[in-house]
Amino acid sequence: MKTGHIIKLETSRQCPVTVGDGLIEHLEEHFDFSGYSSMVLITDTIVHRLYGRGVLATLKATGKKVSLFTLPTGERAKSLSTVERGYKFLLSNNVDRKCLICALGGGVVGDTAGFIAASYLRGIDYLQLPTTLLAQVDSSLGGKVGVNFKGKKNMVGSFYQPTAVIADVALLQSLPPAEMRHGLAEVIKYAIAMDEGLYRILERKEDNDFSAAELKDIVRRCCRLKAGIVEIDETEKTGQRAILNFGHTVGHALEAVSRFKGKSHGEAVAVGIIAVAKISQRLGILKADDVERIKKLIAKFELPTSCPGVSPDALINAIRFDKKTTLGQTRWVLVKGIGKGITDQTVAEEVVGKVLEELCR
Ligand code: GLY
Repeated sequence: MKTGHIIKLETSRQCPVTVGDGLIEHLEEHFDFSGYSSMVLITDTIVHRLYGRGVLATLKATGKKVSLFTLPTGERAKSLSTVERGYKFLLSNNVDRKCLICALGGGVVGDTAGFIAASYLRGIDYLQLPTTLLAQVDSSLGGKVGVNFKGKKNMVGSFYQPTAVIADVALLQSLPPAEMRHGLAEVIKYAIAMDEGLYRILERKEDNDFSAAELKDIVRRCCRLKAGIVEIDETEKTGQRAILNFGHTVGHALEAVSRFKGKSHGEAVAVGIIAVAKISQRLGILKADDVERIKKLIAKFELPTSCPGVSPDALINAIRFDKKTTLGQTRWVLVKGIGKGITDQTVAEEVVGKVLEELCR
């Protein structure tokens, strides 16, 4: 049996997070399906081709009824119309409350399937089987589920914890290098905001080629960091969970403005991290040397460090309308040293404007 490292995540419900290499091949050894009446596998067309058949076979071997609901690939699938199609599918398959939804895929699949699970019959269990680095280190754990609405990301959703997360780093071997880099932006986020040790590991890395052992270590570290935060602020009420949004204020704004279209979430977050580092430097809390170190690391992983051609004014406007803005005041996560993010900071718009102008040049 391939063993996984189990991280306990205790929130409104317990959610063990298992990280390992080769877990998916013997899923039944890592999750107890016995209490469920049936299973619905939700995945996308590409992931289905790569891993869906194997997972379906494992689920079917339990002797329960198993059905498959496939989403198209890409962010556009993360919509209320997909959710409605999901409800129709569940209804037509007579899915009851004892059914388990298995979400096999990246963030789009996990967030959408999680939202279907959260709302169908007022909530049924779901298992997260993340297949991208970004989903393994971030989106699959913590219970944020939802879809985009009227062009706004994650506008409609809920906090609904999965029953378990099983992160198999063997699945990352088939990830295109670009996808891998985007996940690395979230890993860099954890390192700068919360974990200097992780930062040093990334700094020492000479190439983009990660072994299974290295990936296991990185995913485990990030999951542990996230679990620690989610446990103390499950529904983002006390402000502690905001640390996980490090780099995302400018990142989300970039995703919202048209000139950055075609770029990924990870690329937007990478530029967002640089923006925060520069803002922190202007405020006198981060040393110039650290800003240079951060830039060097992001560039090493072939992620962007600026966004030439984007309008700084459009970015400022997008920041003003971010859903995390409270009473018209953006709460920033800044950084005062590697591994030392600080939440709930206000920054004068003039300082933000100057940094954005630099980055957009
Ligand atoms: N990805 C940020 C969070 O889960 O809170």
